[in-house]
Amino acid sequence: MPPVARHSSRILVLNGPNLNLLGQREPAVYGTGTLADLEAELRAAFPEVDFVFAQSNHEGALIDRMHEARTDGTLGVVMNPGGFSHTSVALRDAVASIAPVPVVEVHLSNVHAREPFRHRLITAGACVGSIAGLGRAGYHLAVRYLVEREGSQR
Ligand code: DQA
Repeated sequence: MPPVARHSSRILVLNGPNLNLLGQREPAVYGTGTLADLEAELRAAFPEVDFVFAQSNHEGALIDRMHEARTDGTLGVVMNPGGFSHTSVALRDAVASIAPVPVVEVHLSNVHAREPFRHRLITAGACVGSIAGLGRAGYHLAVRYLVEREGSQR
């Protein structure tokens, strides 16, 4: 199916493995807020945006969801691929395959200041940009970027 015109205000926020445990998982690294808190925060901060939130612990499910964004009118994707950032050529290819729909990669923690295996970001190279280490603010900044980018291209 060919890509459709991106006329909507739909932003997909796609979270990868283990992010369903946000708030319980390593709170010293990822904070105490839950994924539901983050989603509510984003809805409140950007009432004009039609958010679609998705999370999966499975690489193929993330790829399938990414593909849907190519044809469902999504204006942009905010993606935190979790550990798949460091391993997944297939997820990177999925990001590239939905062009021109822009994808911004977000990491809550500063992956560059952590273990060496987190320094290599396979997926980020296919994204329009990436944000790491700013906690939940990274998601807000990524959404803001996508909204402003869409406005400037009209
Ligand atoms: C993360 C960083 C990854 O290295 C890690 O595997 C995650 C979370 C982050 O948001 O900081 O699951 O993507």
